[in-house]
Amino acid sequence: MANVNIIINGQKVEVPKDYNIIQAAEILGIDIPALCYDSNLEVAGACRLCLVEVERSEKLQTACSTKVKDGMVIYTESEKVVRIRKQILQLLLDSHPNDCLTCEKAGECLLQEYAYRYGVKFKEHNGVKRPKYIDNSSPYILKDDSKCILCGKCVRTCNDIDERRVLSFSNRGYDTRIISDTDQTLETSKCVSCNRCVAVCPVGALIDRRQINKDRVWNLNSRTINCKSCDYGCEFEVLSQNKKNIAVKAKHPTNGRPLCLRGRLITELMYLDNPDKPYRKVDGKFIESSWTKALGLGKIMEKIEKVEKDNA
Ligand code: SF4
Ligand code: SF4
Ligand code: SF4
Ligand code: FES
Repeated sequence: MANVNIIINGQKVEVPKDYNIIQAAEILGIDIPALCYDSNLEVAGACRLCLVEVERSEKLQTACSTKVKDGMVIYTESEKVVRIRKQILQLLLDSHPNDCLTCEKAGECLLQEYAYRYGVKFKEHNGVKRPKYIDNSSPYILKDDSKCILCGKCVRTCNDIDERRVLSFSNRGYDTRIISDTDQTLETSKCVSCNRCVAVCPVGALIDRRQINKDRVWNLNSRTINCKSCDYGCEFEVLSQNKKNIAVKAKHPTNGRPLCLRGRLITELMYLDNPDKPYRKVDGKFIESSWTKALGLGKIMEKIEKVEKDNA
């Protein structure tokens, strides 16, 4: 792949010509804020937070969807860029609940990180907030629409797997929401609790319920492991505290890696000191389950018992 030479914030860099501006900036250690971009997902250009100034270009360009061109001169933190970024962040905060003190996502929330970086604060106002609609029907996922910033990452990742395709946008304008199937709960929809959507959500709109109240993220250590359940070897994070493994979290799926509930439960069983009880969906209802049933090992266990009995 041929390379191109560009200049970002006064620094020269040579990058492959199929790179977008976010990827090129990363090489220089420049982090362009991005709420809807994920290198593993189709580019949506929805949040506009990654706007940058490109010399000889009249309009600001979205760094996630603009490919580099030889000779490009880019400014990622110019006065104009920062002013617009602050306006976008303020609009998001104005319709967002001021819940950072108790939100499970605090410490790893991108909205919180960027608001801090650009000095944008929650403010009192009488305007509309996003409606509080909480779906707590799943023992694996908590969905809180009031915190959703409509980046669409959950929709894109869920739709990457043909047989899932659970999430979609519903309604228009201010009433836009992310829904499961035809606006069902996660429990009654065909959601398979893979937690791909939770892994990509940049804010506290989708939370892993099995992690809730375990501890604040900054008190935990994390290490990445590969699932041993099948050849895909999806990545999970094992969270620990005082040398005790307390939670397993789905990591960003990469292309061709689906993530699944079975793999996550097997990982919990293998690594956690005290795993929570598993649940499985039966006829559109979650029921507490034995590990044998949750992992679909019933028949194998029967066979093992029979073989052992026959050979005793
Ligand atoms: S989602 Fe982020 S910004 Fe919103 S309350 Fe939680 S931590 Fe704060
Ligand atoms: S858990 Fe998996 S199947 Fe369910 S909505 Fe999220 S991505 Fe889709
Ligand atoms: S639920 Fe999360 S990932 Fe999905 S659109 Fe809302 S903010 Fe984005
Ligand atoms: S990250 Fe580029 S538009 Fe959202």
